[in-house]
Amino acid sequence: MDKRTILIAFLLLWCMSGYTTQVKKPLPSLIPYPQHVERGNGQFELSAQTRLVLEDQGLFWKEAAYLQSLLAPVLGQGLSSNSGVNSIVLVYSDQIEAEEAYQLDITSSQISLKARTPQGLFYGIQTLRQLLPYYMEEGEKIDYPIYLPVLSITDEPAFSWRGSMIDVSRHFFTLDYLKKHIDRLALYKMNKLHLHLTDDQGWRVEIKKYPELTSQGAWRTYNNQDSLCMELAKENPAFEIDPRHIIKKEGKELYGGYYTQDQLRDLVAYAASRHVEIIPEIDMPGHMLAAISAYPNLVDEKEIGWGKLFTIPLCPCKEEVYTFVEDVLSEIMEIFPSQYIHIGADEVEKDTWEKSENCRQLMERENIETVDKLQSYFVHRVQQFIESKGRKVIGWDEILDGGISSDVYVMYWRDWVSKVPSQAIENGNNVITSSSNPLYFNRPPDKNSLHTVYHFDVIYKGIPAGKETLMKGAQANMWSERIPTEQRADFLLFPRMTALAERLWTNKDLYDSYSDRLLDHCPRLDALGINYRLLDLTGFAAESVFAKETFFQVNNPHPEMSVYYTTDGTLPDRKSILLENPLKITQPVELKFALFRPNGIRGDVYTVNYRPARMAKGAKLDKKELNPGLRCGLYMDKVRSTKDIKSGALKEQIVPEIIVPEEFITSSFALKYKGYIKIPQTGIYTFYLTCDDGGVLYINNEITVDNDGFHSAIEKSGQAALSEGYHPFQLDFIEGGGGFTLKLQYSFNGSEPQDIPDSWFVHSSKL
Ligand code: ACM
Repeated sequence: MDKRTILIAFLLLWCMSGYTTQVKKPLPSLIPYPQHVERGNGQFELSAQTRLVLEDQGLFWKEAAYLQSLLAPVLGQGLSSNSGVNSIVLVYSDQIEAEEAYQLDITSSQISLKARTPQGLFYGIQTLRQLLPYYMEEGEKIDYPIYLPVLSITDEPAFSWRGSMIDVSRHFFTLDYLKKHIDRLALYKMNKLHLHLTDDQGWRVEIKKYPELTSQGAWRTYNNQDSLCMELAKENPAFEIDPRHIIKKEGKELYGGYYTQDQLRDLVAYAASRHVEIIPEIDMPGHMLAAISAYPNLVDEKEIGWGKLFTIPLCPCKEEVYTFVEDVLSEIMEIFPSQYIHIGADEVEKDTWEKSENCRQLMERENIETVDKLQSYFVHRVQQFIESKGRKVIGWDEILDGGISSDVYVMYWRDWVSKVPSQAIENGNNVITSSSNPLYFNRPPDKNSLHTVYHFDVIYKGIPAGKETLMKGAQANMWSERIPTEQRADFLLFPRMTALAERLWTNKDLYDSYSDRLLDHCPRLDALGINYRLLDLTGFAAESVFAKETFFQVNNPHPEMSVYYTTDGTLPDRKSILLENPLKITQPVELKFALFRPNGIRGDVYTVNYRPARMAKGAKLDKKELNPGLRCGLYMDKVRSTKDIKSGALKEQIVPEIIVPEEFITSSFALKYKGYIKIPQTGIYTFYLTCDDGGVLYINNEITVDNDGFHSAIEKSGQAALSEGYHPFQLDFIEGGGGFTLKLQYSFNGSEPQDIPDSWFVHSSKL
């Protein structure tokens, strides 16, 4: 469809959507969704004749210029600032309380955007931007008016820390990419970019007093992670080492790079214009190998390299180490005006401190009993220095070891140490969450990731009541050991970042609407050139069956892209077979298939195995003994697998569908649902079981979906060949603590997954 056709279709849909009738108006596809939206009738016509008026006492001129920069290319000229009808008016309002809040009112003659702060106004502009057609992102001139729906939005974020961390040490990223990322964060109203600037594998920031940090520390010969990427690149070019970061020096090929201070100042200014605060991290005292290799006096006894788990850290017992740290941080604080300075403090191998004579003397002198407390001593000194410059300290959660002052911000990442948030909060610290599951976005996404990120609780259960405000928000971390390219980074960051953005800004459960809105956002992400992970193909099960024959088909959320498949075990490419119509399956086969973007980049590869199965006959039952619903038995065992549920239900209830009875909910429990499923039509049925923790579905006493074990909410699917009639049904479920999810859906003949009607579940009054 060309743009004009899209516009006409849009207008047609607009009319059909009830412009003149009582039909409910569709809600706009905004991410993150605003706190309050009211749709009215009519539309505002935006064109080159629209005016842009500032009623803000000079506060918003930068935001006005930014809005002009978005609109001018599309409208062919900047908007005039004379007042008049058909105008966009930027209004200062001290009635708007929250720092980042805004109010957007669109009538047929005016767009009024109100805020108290430039930041609030900027977020209103992002909302306006998302109401414009996606192709405005391409910046191409549009020769016809753009229509915006009449509406009223009041909006503000749920959390103040809405962040993204990028590790530029393990693999390096260009400034251009960081700017693009800042733009993308701004589009989704995220406000923090944390740069992990230094680590064992590379020092990436120019420090004038210590030139060898970059002349030596920014470059390396290929390491084992590079080799792994090179291996993975054989099947996926997104793992190829970016040639822009490879140099030749003295006959050797070196990988690396760094940012000069001027470049970083420019980046900081760019981010500030998008209301993104850049938080620099200099990770210390561990993760310092790049610096220590260049300046070996930073450790005791010249012990350089790896200890048992991590690299040998800075020695906290040598004064020259503090001189170095303060010199480096002084330059960092000159480059970065951020309120916060991140000092890492994670994964410190303290063995060398135990053995050091310097440390023994210092510990004796200062009355320090343990090496954990020695880390506290180090942190405390660095903290005093940073705070003396009017900044706040952030550290990874190990910073709590040995005790810390309540002024430090704690970044929680070790989700397996569940006591950390409450321990930090009880100590009075502010907490930012970057829980490794699900917020380590370097971990490869799958079809469950969006759901998991969207439903993640920013405020942990168990936080003392009244202390929730110490939980500032969250951020997604992208550690780059296996991310050598922007293409791979995009794939890992998007669309997950949109789910996190909505959790942090909106913080409501609008997942179904989010999923629909995300689909509408894909063309915008495409227009922005983001290599996001495509939405999942659905309608099939990894383990599939056929009786005599069946048809393989997929539901493709990206109709403009094609699916190609292979049957010989090789990875599909665009020379493989195009899946046009449902594919007839009469033989066991393994299908590998993927979507391909118009530029040829392959999406995730899916595998489906078909095995032959007998069409299971229905059970012979005495209908008089059948009653609606399933028996649901409660078992109190805290078990790691459904197989370990001990027999003998404590209680039983009849449930109309797969729901957990209120009275059965405790912190950990196990359930068994038993009865029959009444299949209305002979054929192959796919069942989708989403659970947190484990669940196993049995039909005709055979495992149909195995989603057992302790895990967060994930969906697994399986198939059964079922004749019309009643089939024994059993679903076992375990919940080990921390909140549960349990959902069972089915599809038939390639339909979208749907809920199983209650009328399909029966149980025998005998049993
Ligand atoms: C971390 O992942 N070491 C913070």
